[in-house]
Amino acid sequence: MAIKYQDSLKGVTPGKLRGFFVDWPNPPSPTAHLRLLKNSGLVTLAVDDKSGRVIGFITAITDKVLSAYIPFLEVLPDYQSRGIGEKLVKRMLRRLSKAYMVDLICDVPLQKFYKRFKMSPAAGMMKRNYRSQSGARIC
Ligand SMILES: CC(C)(COP(=O)(O)OP(=O)(O)OC[C@H]1O[C@@H](n2cnc3c(N)ncnc32)[C@H](O)[C@@H]1OP(=O)(O)O)[C@@H](O)C(=O)NCCC(=O)NCCS
Repeated sequence: MAIKYQDSLKGVTPGKLRGFFVDWPNPPSPTAHLRLLKNSGLVTLAVDDKSGRVIGFITAITDKVLSAYIPFLEVLPDYQSRGIGEKLVKRMLRRLSKAYMVDLICDVPLQKFYKRFKMSPAAGMMKRNYRSQSGARIC
C-alpha cells in the first residue's frame, strides 16, 4: 500500500477521517475532527494514496516564537507498527526544529517511543473536562 505524507488538509473531508480516537468514550465526530485539524497551527497526515483515507495524523500548536505543543498523534489500529507514527513525529519535529521547546504529554509506556526522537521524560500537569470530549467551541 502506498502511503503519502502531507502537511495540508488538501482533499480531506470528514468521510476520510473515520476510525480515529480509539477507546474514547465520547469521541469527536469526523466533522469535529476536521475542524480540530483546520484550527491546529500545524498538521501532518499519513494518507492512503489510493483511497485518500487518512490513516494517521499529528498536530501541533505553537506561539511561533518559543514553544510548540503536540496535542495529538494517532495511527489507525490496522496500520500501526509499520513506522507510520515514527514518520509523522519525525516530520513534525523537523517542521518545529527552530522552536526552543516542544512538549507533549504521554503515558509512561510511550516514553520509550518518544525517546527515539531525543525527547526526554518530564513531569506535567493536566486537566480534563470530559463533558467536552466530543468537541466544543472553546473560544
Ligand atoms: C503511538 C502510535 C501513534 C504509534 O504509531 P505506529 O505507527 O504504530 O508507530 P511506529 O510503527 O512508528 O512504532 C511502533 C512502536 O511504538 C511503540 N508503541 C506504540 N504504542 C505503544 C504503547 N501504547 N506503549 C508502548 N509503546 C508503544 C512500540 O515500540 C511499537 O513497536 P511495536 O509495533 O514493535 O510494538 C500508535 O500506537 C497509536 O496511534 N496509538 C494510540 C494513540 C496514542 O497513544 N497516541 C499517542 C498519544 S501521546
